[in-house]
Amino acid sequence: MDGQRDTEKMIWDLVDNFPSLPVVVTKVLEVTEDPDSSAQDLLQAILPDQSMCIAILKIANSALFGQPKKVSSIERAIMVLGFNEIRSIVLGRAVVNSFSSIPAKHRYSVNCFWEHSFLCGLAARNMAEGLGLQSGDFFVSGLIHDVGKLAMFLALGDEYDPAKWMLGAGRLENYGQEKKQFLVDHPLVGGKLLQKWDFPQSLILAVAYHHNPEGCEKGRGYPLILQVADFYAHLINHPHLLNGTSHEELICSFLPKLKEQWIELNLPWDPFTMETWYSWLKIEARHGSQVMSLLTS
Ligand SMILES: [Fe+2]
Ligand SMILES: [Fe+2]
Repeated sequence: MDGQRDTEKMIWDLVDNFPSLPVVVTKVLEVTEDPDSSAQDLLQAILPDQSMCIAILKIANSALFGQPKKVSSIERAIMVLGFNEIRSIVLGRAVVNSFSSIPAKHRYSVNCFWEHSFLCGLAARNMAEGLGLQSGDFFVSGLIHDVGKLAMFLALGDEYDPAKWMLGAGRLENYGQEKKQFLVDHPLVGGKLLQKWDFPQSLILAVAYHHNPEGCEKGRGYPLILQVADFYAHLINHPHLLNGTSHEELICSFLPKLKEQWIELNLPWDPFTMETWYSWLKIEARHGSQVMSLLTS
């Protein structure tokens, strides 16, 4: 038990001492949360951060956004992509880069980790749009939903075996076992880290409850959608699970509390539409390998 307590302390010490995110993040959060902000305000928030500007332009010109004309200035990028996408890029890139100290020998695991996270972000945004919700921070919430795993890895090193915990090999994820072994789990650690970074409450809750939305008292729809997006992002790598079972049976067997909560929140339970979300994600998954080079550039 003492060993476990030491492990837990190492994790919380790491979170407490985790470096702040670049100033541009706070500024962009302020500007994008103020309904009176103009494109000029957003421009002024981003311009001082040259590397962020370069990254935004690269992403705006990538196949992800499929712009017919080259986007050659930040002003134009703001016009073309809009406040929401710029906010997503700035938050996403800052979070991804804050884990750049993970040693290169773990690059494969880390890349797989971000590919999964990226797909989860795409799925969450697509589902939110399909459900007629404001897509808002759904993409970012997916991109950062498992950052607690990276923080635990940074704190514990090989004791938090990347193949087992980061990639969730074997099962879709080993959530549940984590708490038994380390006394804390990645949603809690991720939520605390976002709290330290002063992220919006809705994002903190989505990340902190993405494996148990039923525990979230306020705004449960957000983690609930994220939970399904996470499931689909995993399913991309485990398509054999669909052999011989219906889509609805599969999702309900992995997420037994989902249907009840979905209906409770007045979301339409429509397995056919859910299947189309997964089919859409399978097509979009081709962008996954691009994400690391774009977000870390
Ligand atoms: Fe997770
Ligand atoms: Fe995940």
